[in-house]
Amino acid sequence: MASGGPAVEGAAEPLDATVSKMIATRFGTDRLALLPLRVEYAETMAKVLSDPVLYTFTGGEPPTADELSERYRRQVAGPGRPGESWLNWVISTLQDDELIGYVQATVIGDEAEIAWVLGTAWQGRGYAREAAIALVAWLEAHGARRVIAHVHPDHAASAAIAAAAGLRRTDLLEDGEYLWVR
Ligand SMILES: CC(C)(COP(=O)(O)OP(=O)(O)OC[C@H]1O[C@@H](n2cnc3c(N)ncnc32)[C@H](O)[C@@H]1OP(=O)(O)O)[C@@H](O)C(=O)NCCC(=O)NCCS
Repeated sequence: MASGGPAVEGAAEPLDATVSKMIATRFGTDRLALLPLRVEYAETMAKVLSDPVLYTFTGGEPPTADELSERYRRQVAGPGRPGESWLNWVISTLQDDELIGYVQATVIGDEAEIAWVLGTAWQGRGYAREAAIALVAWLEAHGARRVIAHVHPDHAASAAIAAAAGLRRTDLLEDGEYLWVR
């Protein structure tokens, strides 16, 4: 296996699917720190996410710093519905303390839907794979029993990441994307 084994600290307080809220905590990999989202990251993250190519498969366009601040405010506040949690982390390199992307999970009951985005300048070094593997480990250590992702059929890099994180592709297409499950 490539570098990047998950290091989950303070693991395993099982989630009571009906009442509990999952809260993002910091975790790490060999090369990365996964930091719970803060609104203050918006200005730097707007630069990280500024390449229109990043939105080829997911749709959307680069957010301005103000738009991202507003989005982060909503994400940090959460859905306000019992049994549902929005978990967001920015990805930081241990070597340079540089923000390079993000991972997220929407948890409903004991099912977590995950996604990942890495700034173009930092792609192709296995960082997204490393973060996704550790994210799945964190989620399962905190009570998730099913992890899913939606991946566009033509997005080979995301498919490779999903597979590396232990998800398998189903034949179910939802809004033009394959459902992957673990
Ligand atoms: C998806 C994304 C994070 C991948 O970033 P990345 O830096 O290429 O990812 P990694 O370096 O960790 O590589 C992941 C895997 O994809 C493979 N890969 C990368 N580019 C590829 C390509 N063009 N074709 C085929 N495989 C590719 C890598 O070889 C690696 O596979 P391996 O682990 O089996 O060797 C990045 O393209 C991105 O942020 N895209 C925009 C956001 C997005 O669409 N996110 C998906 C939402 S779920």
